[in-house]
Amino acid sequence: MIDKIKSLLQEVENLTASNAEELEALRIKYLGKKGEISALMNDFRTVPAEQKREVGIYINQLKETAQNKINELKESFENAPTFSNDIDLTRTAYPIGLGTRHPLSLVKKEICDIFGRLGFSIAEGPEIEDDWHVFSSLNFAEDHPARDMQDTFFIQHNPDVLLRTHTSSVQTRVMEKQQPPIRIICPGRVYRNEAISYRAHCFFHQVEALYVDKNVSFADLKQALLFFAKEMFGPETKIRLRPSYFPFTEPSAEMDISCNICGGEGCPFCKHTGWVEILGCGMVDPNVLENCGIDSKVYTGYALGMGIERITNLKYRVKDLRMFSENDIRFLREFESAN
Ligand code: DAH
Repeated sequence: MIDKIKSLLQEVENLTASNAEELEALRIKYLGKKGEISALMNDFRTVPAEQKREVGIYINQLKETAQNKINELKESFENAPTFSNDIDLTRTAYPIGLGTRHPLSLVKKEICDIFGRLGFSIAEGPEIEDDWHVFSSLNFAEDHPARDMQDTFFIQHNPDVLLRTHTSSVQTRVMEKQQPPIRIICPGRVYRNEAISYRAHCFFHQVEALYVDKNVSFADLKQALLFFAKEMFGPETKIRLRPSYFPFTEPSAEMDISCNICGGEGCPFCKHTGWVEILGCGMVDPNVLENCGIDSKVYTGYALGMGIERITNLKYRVKDLRMFSENDIRFLREFESAN
């Protein structure tokens, strides 16, 4: 009997099955009620008492091995992919819904790329700032209205901790650490305490550019601006500079571009003037350079800053600023082709 069990043991160890039906047949053959192992159990009664112990051990071993083997084969079927004839393997896969870049990210990237071609590299700074970097270092007078609670979000009523109101703060951060030549472009989010409407939001995005070196002139600024305008809005674009005031630049200017909707003819978008304002700029005020430890007798620089929403609005005609932060998928999908 032991020989029979041994040969069954070997059989069981080498079992294979190529599908679930074959496996079930094997299970019945060995472990079923009328199977081989049941038959052995029946025969067990006739085994002489002194052999019972040894034979019993063998039968148990056989039973266990058969059970394990069948389970093992079963698992291998369950984990294997099942193919049936009604699956069409030539069919195209379901389209994977890839996300698209947000319009503001697209425009930010384009602005940074254009300045990148002029040798500017990206610099970033914190959104939670202090008074020095946002205002004092940039020549804001103590009583400048921008410092007012009405315009600036202060954190926990501490007048020295605030959300930056412009990315000009990154100018100071870079100039404090680095001597000229400096040629940086600083994209980022800014915050102002404004009532939310179609044309104002409590947060928006800006890009600041700063170039400080020996002999940097207003002509250099103008050339960079013209290059930017043509790259961004097309080669026909004209620019116009109007005198303005910013505490951190002297002289300061605002730049208009010829209306890219009517081409300068006059339309409701440009209020029939043919021009639309897009950014502020100027020569870095010597006080700002000195505040950051740069010798204003040796170096000069220009700076400019623009709102990314404003540029996006001009490029893609988004009339309502709030759409940029609503995350309406129908709006975002409209920019799929620009990605
Ligand atoms: N910081 C200004 C603002 O938030 C924008 C700006 C104007 C930046 C003139 C400049 C500049 O660098 O020269 O409105």
